[in-house]
Amino acid sequence: MRLLLLSTLLCLAHAQLHKPKNVLFLVADDLRPQLGYFQDSADFPTPVHPRMHTPSLDSLAKRSFVSRRAYVQQAVCSPSRTSLLTGRRPDTTHVYDLESYWRKVGGNYTTLPQYFKQQGYRSIGMGKIFHPGPLASGNDDPISWTDPYYHSEEEQHWTERKHSWYAVPEAERQAHPLPDDQIAEHAINKIKELAKDPSQPFFLAVGFHKPHLPFIFPEKFMDLYPSDRVNVPDNIYAPRNMPDIAWSKYGELRSYTDIEELHASGDINTTLPIDVTRDLRRGYYSAISYMDHLLGTVVDELMNQGLGDNTIISFWGDHGWQLGEHGEWCKHTNFELSTHAPMMVSIPGMTDAGMVSEKLTEFVDLFPTLVDAAGLPTMPLCPADSTKTELCREGESWMPLIRGDGGQWKDRVFSQYPRDNSKIMGYTMRTDRFRYTEWVKFRDYKPEWQKLFGVELYDHKIDPEENNNVAAAAAYAPATKQLSAQLRAGWRSARPDDPRSVRYDADAWPIFQHL
Ligand SMILES: *[C@@H]1O[C@H](CO)[C@@H](O)[C@H](O)[C@H]1NC(C)=O
Ligand SMILES: *[C@@H]1O[C@H](CO)[C@@H](O)[C@H](O)[C@H]1NC(C)=O
Repeated sequence: MRLLLLSTLLCLAHAQLHKPKNVLFLVADDLRPQLGYFQDSADFPTPVHPRMHTPSLDSLAKRSFVSRRAYVQQAVCSPSRTSLLTGRRPDTTHVYDLESYWRKVGGNYTTLPQYFKQQGYRSIGMGKIFHPGPLASGNDDPISWTDPYYHSEEEQHWTERKHSWYAVPEAERQAHPLPDDQIAEHAINKIKELAKDPSQPFFLAVGFHKPHLPFIFPEKFMDLYPSDRVNVPDNIYAPRNMPDIAWSKYGELRSYTDIEELHASGDINTTLPIDVTRDLRRGYYSAISYMDHLLGTVVDELMNQGLGDNTIISFWGDHGWQLGEHGEWCKHTNFELSTHAPMMVSIPGMTDAGMVSEKLTEFVDLFPTLVDAAGLPTMPLCPADSTKTELCREGESWMPLIRGDGGQWKDRVFSQYPRDNSKIMGYTMRTDRFRYTEWVKFRDYKPEWQKLFGVELYDHKIDPEENNNVAAAAAYAPATKQLSAQLRAGWRSARPDDPRSVRYDADAWPIFQHL
């Protein structure tokens, strides 16, 4: 009898152990790592604002593996999302703009939700996961999902607004819920439905639109950021010795009527008036707190339904955002503020105590990380030409970092941004200490390194705001030479277990205080 009981218990334990883990895949749009949680532990970004009110993400972070230094592969929506969702970099997806569909211009690559679907998961998407648009993402990529894709019915109503920000009175919100309100509600209903069939594993992707422009949020969130407490950046000038090609005229922001009326040119070393800068910052922060609130309601429902113990939760924002630093706005650049974004993964039983990593990571790492965390068949590394390979990765699973296996990890990470209709490409690389960028001629999806349009080097040890390009400084010549070789060798040579891996020591160069 006791033996029978024991074996039943073992059997149950076994079933529990092998029950596939669900995934709640949460995404925010245009969110730089401006969360209360980051402020507690670190210096990012320069503290020119009141404390952020992001209790939901702060509490998720406390039971997650948080990468404090995660970098996107290209700082604009569709290229960044396509890269993360296919696990490949822009030079493999060939998506550098908001129109192209990787299955047409790159290859028929399997996406993250599609892979879970192939493994027997129910894959459900809503809001902004792929970049929506005419051709873009082939209308949310139907192959990726088992259920019909959901968009808020109120999206049209709210995109008609042409002011850069708007604090919505409660009565108006009642009449016309905001798109993210509806996305959160839809997610909550789905979770209730999914909880009724615990044997069916799910991959539930919830993509919030905020804090993307226009900054529209229920008005009460603005009370968190009183005008007199919102500071403006103290570095409103372009970096010293910055090549012009690095600059973006933030046309996206200037297309809103209130900004257009200012006749701002977007030129280097011009910026928006101080009161406008302050209002935009308040709007951005308020939109973040609003998104955080909705995200909290979704995570709470998951817990209420008893799914918390068996659901992996990932969160990321698709790239950073410039809020007037350097006089710059929006994304569309290779600067730290554009390429650095929040990313965290909560794995029940593994990350419950919370882990903060200072290792450099990349958005292409998330696909293999979630696959490993869920215990699905591991993804192979992409071959040099992966055009015909449906499933592979160009990033590294975080599992060795999460398990604390020791071993080596990549010491440099890569992003890129095109200019001039992709006839020029800026390749940028972050090491522990430096950001190094080369803008070069780009043809047939390949850089022509000898045709240079500009070089940038920022020494984060003494210049964390990237105010001073020292690429041409004699004192940095040896470091520049090494960094250039690393950048041109590309991401593969940064992989610790790559046979050609070369560990450079540019980070160990002495600090030059006086230039
Ligand atoms: C792309 O791959 C999917 C399976 O992942 C397949 O169903 C589809 O037919 C393929 N499309 C093309 C154009 O090869
Ligand atoms: C922008 O202003 C900064 C600070 O005055 C100066 O160092 C830099 O050279 C200027 N850049 C251009 C392109 O005018």
